[in-house]
Amino acid sequence: MLDRAKTCLFFIRGFSVLMLCLYGVCIFSTVSQQSLSSGKKQVDEVVQIIRTRRVIKRTDEQLHTVQEDIYEVDVRRQNSRQLRPFNVMEREKIGGFQKELSKFDVSDNLDQEFHSRVLEFFDKGCEVQIFMTWFAPAEYFGERELLSLESVFQVHPEGCLMILSKTLDSEQGYRILKPLIDLQFKIAAVTPDLSFLLSNTPGDTWLDELKLGKKGPGRIPLGQNLSNLIRLAALYKYGGVYLDTDFIVLKSFKGLRNVIGAQSVDAVSKHWTRLNNAVLIFDRHHPLLFKFMVDFASKFDGNKWGSNGPYLVSRVVHKVSGIPGYNFTILPPTAFYPVDWIKIPGFFRKPQDLASSRWLNATLLELSENCYGVHLWNKVSKGIRIEEGCVLARLVEDHCITCQFTHRKASIIQKN
Ligand SMILES: *[C@@H]1O[C@H](CO)[C@@H](O)[C@H](O)[C@H]1NC(C)=O
Ligand SMILES: *[C@@H]1O[C@H](CO)[C@@H](O)[C@H](O)[C@H]1NC(C)=O
Ligand SMILES: *[C@@H]1O[C@H](CO)[C@@H](O)[C@H](O)[C@H]1NC(C)=O
Repeated sequence: MLDRAKTCLFFIRGFSVLMLCLYGVCIFSTVSQQSLSSGKKQVDEVVQIIRTRRVIKRTDEQLHTVQEDIYEVDVRRQNSRQLRPFNVMEREKIGGFQKELSKFDVSDNLDQEFHSRVLEFFDKGCEVQIFMTWFAPAEYFGERELLSLESVFQVHPEGCLMILSKTLDSEQGYRILKPLIDLQFKIAAVTPDLSFLLSNTPGDTWLDELKLGKKGPGRIPLGQNLSNLIRLAALYKYGGVYLDTDFIVLKSFKGLRNVIGAQSVDAVSKHWTRLNNAVLIFDRHHPLLFKFMVDFASKFDGNKWGSNGPYLVSRVVHKVSGIPGYNFTILPPTAFYPVDWIKIPGFFRKPQDLASSRWLNATLLELSENCYGVHLWNKVSKGIRIEEGCVLARLVEDHCITCQFTHRKASIIQKN
C-alpha cells in the first residue's frame, strides 16, 4: 500500500519535474536570467514575454502547486515515522504530549535560571542578538548546521548567537560548539523554559490547554510546531534575529529592523504571495509578533500540516496590511530566499558547460549584491551532496571559518 503510494508519488513527481523542466527552461531561462543580470531596461521585454506566455505561466503555476503539495506530502511522510497510532485514548494522548514536552523544560523553578542566562549572555556587547532553535538530538546537528553557525560569525564576528535547545545544552552540545567557543565567538546553547517564554503571551493559554489535553498535539510532531511558537516568543521577549539552522548568512543584519522576508512574489504585480518565517528580525514586544502568537494559539491544528509555519506569517501579515500601528518591512525574495526550494538543487551542482558557468557567475554576483543570506530548504536539500565548484561550495569557501584551520572543507564539499 505504502509502496504503491510511493511509486505513484514517484511518477507524479517525475512527471511534474519533467513538465516543470520543459516550461522552466523556456520561462526561467528568459525571465529569471534577464531579471538577474540586467536591470530595469529589460522589464518591458519581460512583461511582454509574461503576457504572451500567460497560458504557459498558468500551467506552470498549477505545476508549482502540485510540486508544493508533493513537497509537503514528502515532508509529512518523513514525519510519519513518528506518527502515533490513531484512536489513542485521551489519556495516552496527554501522556504522549507530556513525553514530547519533556524534551523542553517546563518546570517552574527553571524560570529565573533561564531568564538570567539569556540576559547575561546578551549583555556582552553584542553586535546583533541572534536566536536559533534545535529540538532534534544533538548528534543530528551536523556539518550543514555548523556551516550555518559559522556564516553568522563570519559576517558578525561580534554577534551573539543563542541556540534554544535542551539537547545541545549538554556535554555533547558543548563539544559540538567548542570549535567556535575556542575562537572566542559568543555562542551558547540554552534549554528553553517554555512556560516562562510563553508567560504573558497568547501562547500561555494555548500551553495550558495542551497540558490539560484540550488541544491534542495530533499527528504532527510537536517539536516543529513548538519551534514555530518559540521563535516568536523568544523574539517577543528579547528582540533580535531568529534564523533557521539551514540558513547561510552573507551580509550583515545590523541595519535591519522589524523585517520579514517574502519567499515568492507575483511575477507581474511584484506583490508578495508567500512570506516565510525562517528569518525574522523584530524589536522586543513588537505588535506583529503578538499577532502571530494570537493566530498560532487560535489556529493550532496538530493534524494539519503547514497551518502554523509560513502560512501563519503570510495569513497574519495579509490580515494586518493597511492597519496602522504595525511598523515593519517586507523584503523581496532576493533578501533571504534568493532561490526557490524547487531550484535549490541547482546550488549544489557544479557547472557542466559554459552556460551553467555563466549562470553560476551571475548568481554569485547577484548574491553578493542583494542578498542577506540563502535559505537552503534543508528538507529538500539535506541529502544532496555539495559538489566542488557549485554555487554553495563557493559560498562555503567564503563563509566557513574553521575551514581555514582544519580539513573541514573536505568533509563538506565533495570532490569528484
Ligand atoms: C518604524 O520602524 C522604523 C525602523 O524599522 C523606525 O525608524 C521608525 O521610527 C518606526 N516608526 C514608527 C512610527 O514607530
Ligand atoms: C507544525 O510544524 C510544521 C513544520 O514547521 C509547520 O509547517 C506546521 O504549520 C505546524 N503545524 C502546526 C499545527 O503548528
Ligand atoms: C566566471 O568567473 C571567473 C572569475 O571569478 C572567471 O574566471 C570565469 O571565466 C567566469 N566564467 C564565465 C563562463 O564567465
